[in-house]
Formats: sequence, structure tokens, C-alpha cells
Amino acid sequence: MVDNLLSSERENIPEHDAVQLVEGSITDDDVLAKLPSDLDTVFHLATFHGNQNSMADPIADHDNNTFTTLKLLEHLRTLPALPRVVYSSAGCTVAQKTFDAAEATTEDDPVSLHLDSPYQVSKIIGELYGNWYHSRFGIDFVKARFQNVYGPGEVLGAGQWRGTPATVWRNVTPTFVYRAIKGEALPVENGGIATRDFIYVDDIVDGLLRCAALGEPNGVYNLAAGVETSILELAETINELTGNTAGVELQPARDWDHSGKRYGSTEKAEREIGFRTTVALRDGLERTVAWTKANLDRIEGCIDRHRASLDGLA
Ligand SMILES: NC(=O)c1ccc[n+]([C@@H]2O[C@H](COP(=O)([O-])OP(=O)(O)OC[C@H]3O[C@@H](n4cnc5c(N)ncnc54)[C@H](O)[C@@H]3O)[C@@H](O)[C@H]2O)c1
Repeated sequence: MVDNLLSSERENIPEHDAVQLVEGSITDDDVLAKLPSDLDTVFHLATFHGNQNSMADPIADHDNNTFTTLKLLEHLRTLPALPRVVYSSAGCTVAQKTFDAAEATTEDDPVSLHLDSPYQVSKIIGELYGNWYHSRFGIDFVKARFQNVYGPGEVLGAGQWRGTPATVWRNVTPTFVYRAIKGEALPVENGGIATRDFIYVDDIVDGLLRCAALGEPNGVYNLAAGVETSILELAETINELTGNTAGVELQPARDWDHSGKRYGSTEKAEREIGFRTTVALRDGLERTVAWTKANLDRIEGCIDRHRASLDGLA
């Protein structure tokens, strides 16, 4: 595997004979030269994490979210046998921009040319490059469009400072779980009316493997639970599971986020690759709470590494 540890920690990489880390950017020619030439399948997950950091540093987003895909594909097309590529795309890019009732996003829905962040632009450029390398060079590029992934292993503050407090807080679920364990009120924006489709990490892994083994050539699949959950409901469930009595703290809406309510259609992935999520949100949250409690020292060590940057913004 290749990772420059920009938003991750070495400790997250399993110690196993089958796993070898090449530390560096997948855009680096020396790194690409170290890859084996007989690859069957490439899982392309590298990204500049995430939406808010991409707005603070669109160039870094380009380098690690757009250029990564282009350099990888340019390298792969030279191999003697072309591997299948499974690309982690994002449901947020293709979702409707609505705070009214959402409809399940399907794989063939139109994509707006007016997206909310450089991150979303990069994710869809990755799909466009993949489709072009497919038509021009025959690279089989399967797009897996993730909804909101959560679960054990997501370390707050993992990796390097990327320009905003979202470096530390990453995504809503790990933030809420950590703050609830610490007995803090959960920061809920815009009354918590936004909805998301939460998918447990084990289900995402299963979906990626199904895309690799069963996806049609150059296909596109939603990896979604198909269940809409409001952010307020998420906060209240996490407070209940952790016994947190501090409640929620209402905050203004995010001015850049126009994709208020969204969830993914599960029909195509179920029909074509037999993918269906198996871990219900409450169960997955219980497991995430347990994992976070067991890894609190490690998580707080990562958060503390960014303390000076966080304090500098205060
Ligand atoms: N987590 C979600 O809810 C979600 C939703 C939609 C799509 N995705 C996509 O799933 C993939 C994985 O995301 P994640 O949430 O696990 O984030 P993550 O930050 O844990 O993983 C991204 C990884 O890419 C690495 N990386 C960054 N730049 C790199 C480079 N130039 N070369 C090599 N490695 C590089 C980071 O160090 C990190 O390990 C991403 O492509 C992301 O866009 C995630």
C-alpha cells in the first residue's frame, strides 16, 4: 500500500506479512516505480481529507485528491497487464442540493457543475479521468460512491495539519462520539435538520471487495445504507449510548454546504453486486463508542499534536 500519512497514522496499518507500506505520495514517480507491475486490483482511496480543509487549501486538495488519480492512471496504463481500479468516489458530489425532502441519489443522476468544495470537484474529476482512461486505454475503472462512513479506526487529528480545525474533528460521527464520552455538549449546526446516510466501515470494505470482484467493467455503484438520519437524531443517539447529559449546543448553518438532505439509492448495488449493509446505525455506533473509549489515549495524543494550530485560530 502507498500512503503519505497526510491524514492517517502509521499505527492504523495492520502488522501483517501481506501488508507493505511504501510511505510517500502516489504522485511521486519514485513511489510509483516501486509498485509491483503484476497488479490484479488497485483500490484507490487517497484523498485530501476533507471538504472544509479543501476550501482552506485548494492547491493541496488538487495535489492529493485530483493529481493522485491522474498520476496513478498514467502509471497504470504502462503496465503489461492492466489492473482493475476501484475508486472511492463520494456521494456528496452527486447529491441533490436541497434542504427539503431528499430523494435517494441514483448512480445515473445528473451531476451539477456547481459543487460545494474543491474536494467535491476533485472527486468527480477522478471519475471523469477514470472514464477517459477506460475509453482510451481500456483501464477498467469501477467507481464506488461512498455515503458517510463511520466506525472504529477513525482517529481524530490523524496525520498533518491541513489548514482548519476539521483536521482534528474530521467527520461528524467521531466528533460527536469523542465529545459525548468527554461529557461535552454536541455542536449541532442549523438545528440538526441536515440528513446523511451513515454506513459502517465493515460494510464499506465489503462493498469495495464486491466492486472489485463483481462490478461490471467501468461500472459505478453507490455504497449506501439507504437510510436517512438527521444530525440531531445522530447526536441524541450518541448522547444516549454514552450516557452524556450535556445535550446539544445549537450552532449556525455552514455557509458552504448546500447539500442539506441526502441519502443514496441501494437498488443497483444490491441487484448487480449483491451489496446490502449489515450493520444498523445504533449497533455501529455502540461499537464505535467502545472502540473510542479503548483508544482514548491514542486519539488525544493526535489531537494534542495540533493544539498549537488550533489555539492559533482561537
Ligand atoms: N469517509 C467518508 O465518509 C467518505 C465519503 C465519501 C468518499 N470517501 C472517500 O473514501 C476515501 C478514503 O477516505 P477516508 O474517509 O478513509 O479518509 P482518510 O483520510 O482516512 O484516508 C485517505 C488516505 O489518503 C492518504 N493520502 C492523502 N494524500 C495522499 C497521497 N498524495 N498519496 C498517498 N496517500 C495519500 C491519507 O494519508 C489517508 O491515509 C477517500 O478517497 C474519500 O474521498 C470517504
